[in-house]
Amino acid sequence: MSEHPVLPDPEAVLIGEAMTGGYGAADILHSCTIAVDKGQIAVIVGPNGAGKSTAMKAVFGMLNLRKGQVRLNGEDITALSPQDRVARGMGFVPQVRNIFPSMTVEENLEMGAFIRTDDYRETMAQIYDLFPILKDKRRQAAGELSGGQRQQVAVGRALMTKPSVLMLDEPTAGVSPIVMDELFDRIIEIARTGISILMVEQNARQALEIADKGYVLVQGANRYTDTGQALLADPEVRRSFLGG
Ligand SMILES: Nc1ncnc2c1ncn2[C@@H]1O[C@H](COP(=O)(O)OP(=O)(O)O)[C@@H](O)[C@H]1O
Ligand SMILES: [Mg+2]
Repeated sequence: MSEHPVLPDPEAVLIGEAMTGGYGAADILHSCTIAVDKGQIAVIVGPNGAGKSTAMKAVFGMLNLRKGQVRLNGEDITALSPQDRVARGMGFVPQVRNIFPSMTVEENLEMGAFIRTDDYRETMAQIYDLFPILKDKRRQAAGELSGGQRQQVAVGRALMTKPSVLMLDEPTAGVSPIVMDELFDRIIEIARTGISILMVEQNARQALEIADKGYVLVQGANRYTDTGQALLADPEVRRSFLGG
């Protein structure tokens, strides 16, 4: 079991290293490190309010860090805006307000392609292959879709820029266990195409099952870091964070 501080990972495609910062006077993140390797799935779990979403925002450039660094393919991107990070290959699906409810499914995907100047129809076709229901509903307002389908829209939107790293904050929030399993299967499929996945999950046990690497965050700091399987097998992690 790796104890914190988590050492920098030279293989990491994306790393937020020793991140310290917050929204105002008090820090929320305390030397927090999260990273993902190429084509792998890294999962962040931890109690409500632990700072998981804050860590994701920090990695995506939506939070000013007081200390620490974000690196993409070895390059320091700490000073870049979120939009510049998208241009460098990062995609982000936030926990809330991740679709445009009054726009159609297809318009949502088109919005996702905002930085592209080339023909994105092939990417859209790939997304419809991945999520066939979205093709059927492409003319419907996204807000009329089920929770699981809306999450598919949000993931599809983020894929429109052809990211090399896809960050997902609680993609299975509020969906049934069956829909959760289906979403996880699609996420595995995305990772198999070489896209690295950095994901926060409330369904910790199920998410760690598919995780190459897992991070347990508590009060803005790394508590446990290991392979998904090792975390699932650890009695202390099970008792404290996985419900026994
Ligand atoms: N926009 C914000 N402004 C001020 N404090 C915030 C904001 N968002 C979250 N927080 C605080 O930061 C802490 C971590 O929140 P968050 O990162 O959302 O946790 P998690 O995603 O692990 O549930 C909480 O104490 C929360 O109240
Ligand atoms: Mg959150």
